Amino acid sequence: MANIRSRVKKPADKSVVTYTVSLPYDQRLYKHDIAGSIAHANMLAKQGIISDQDAESITWGLASIREEIDKGKLAFKPELEDIHMVIEARLIEKIGEIGGKLHTARSRNDQISLDMRLYLKDAINELVTRLKAFQLAIIDLAEANKDVVMPGYTHLQAAQPVLLAHHFLAYFEMILRDTARLWDCLKRTDIMPLGSGAVAGVGYKIDREFLARELGFSQISQNSLDAVSDRDFILEFEATASICMMHLSRLAEEMVIWSSAEFGFIEIDGAYATSSSIMPQKKNPDVAELARGKTGRVYGNLMALLTTMKALPLTYNRDMQEDKQGLFDIVDILSSTLEVFTGMLKTMKIKNENISRSVKLGYILATDLADYLVKKGEPFRSAHEIVARLVNYAEEKGKSFEQLKTNEYKQFSPLFDKDVSSITIKSSLAARDITGGTAPNQVTKALASARKSIT
Ligand code: ARG
Repeated sequence: MANIRSRVKKPADKSVVTYTVSLPYDQRLYKHDIAGSIAHANMLAKQGIISDQDAESITWGLASIREEIDKGKLAFKPELEDIHMVIEARLIEKIGEIGGKLHTARSRNDQISLDMRLYLKDAINELVTRLKAFQLAIIDLAEANKDVVMPGYTHLQAAQPVLLAHHFLAYFEMILRDTARLWDCLKRTDIMPLGSGAVAGVGYKIDREFLARELGFSQISQNSLDAVSDRDFILEFEATASICMMHLSRLAEEMVIWSSAEFGFIEIDGAYATSSSIMPQKKNPDVAELARGKTGRVYGNLMALLTTMKALPLTYNRDMQEDKQGLFDIVDILSSTLEVFTGMLKTMKIKNENISRSVKLGYILATDLADYLVKKGEPFRSAHEIVARLVNYAEEKGKSFEQLKTNEYKQFSPLFDKDVSSITIKSSLAARDITGGTAPNQVTKALASARKSIT
């Protein structure tokens, strides 16, 4: 095979081969690389740049190389640097010097941009499917536990009663935005860069629109320098994935807290829990902990690529090869986290008794008592103060609001009356009858529209 190292006159030093090789990870792109090459060969023939016959043997060769790689039959030689060179070398081995015509009007610089875009488009589509499955699990769990009331927390202190379904639907909303962000990333990933060549565009009458159509892109890039040096589409995806992992890590944290003996709100199914090698009583939420931990790795990958790209002069620089491991790592982490979380939610047991017990702690109806006074004419600020003093009093006496007598209430405001007993968890929920609120009829509506929005 013709040697691309003629200019440097000698083979690369062993240490250099090891240092520069991207094959161990970019082999993951082989299907996309071959798809791009087949479209390119067909386009070259259509434009009369190579003969139909040559294109035929090239595309035949490429298809058979794809099969070889599928079956693990192609040896990857590290001296060949990257997946592009491995495939091209094998093509020439298979069909002879004609294979050398494939790289006409193309550079590895536009080729790698193409491969990464094709790969990411597929990855985004798969992730969106996973996000949907996860959202469905959220809806199912929420619906199956529609009547469960839990403390809504601020500062991790019980604040106001909310429906458990309302709490879970908060995650549904986050994932809805994550999905929209992914679709938005897709728009800027869906741009076909071939024809940009190494930097200046190519000197052949190629048909870029044809390539875009063949490869399923809706647009072609408009500036060759930008096209070979742009990695924003990857950064944007990684930022989106980071936000999504941040959301999952918050749920993860709640799963960890809620599954503790102290909370006991949920029981993680045995299949999604782990045990301790020393403490026989332990059933650990490692899946949730690892999701929390892997979130750090996802952010790290985003920061790594931002840093790699920072201040790089135009256009392509080899630094950019470092975009791959982080991207693949993020796709794998997000995808597997969604998979295990979907399973964990589907199998998790909600322990309603413990949850209801905790709703009764901590004067969770204090806001409702203040609202009660407000409705009787007390300005909210002073109502707030009255109830705060009432809470101090009840706490001192070791009593709940329920256990206080009407005359004890009256010591704090003459506006308190017998009907103060009508303030209950149920009335508190029902009062929040506003779009986005936790009133049962609102949550029922939200559940229905959540289900509708993803089916
Ligand atoms: N392996 C390279 C990368 O990932 C492909 C492009 C190589 N281009 C080059 N001029 N060496 O960035």
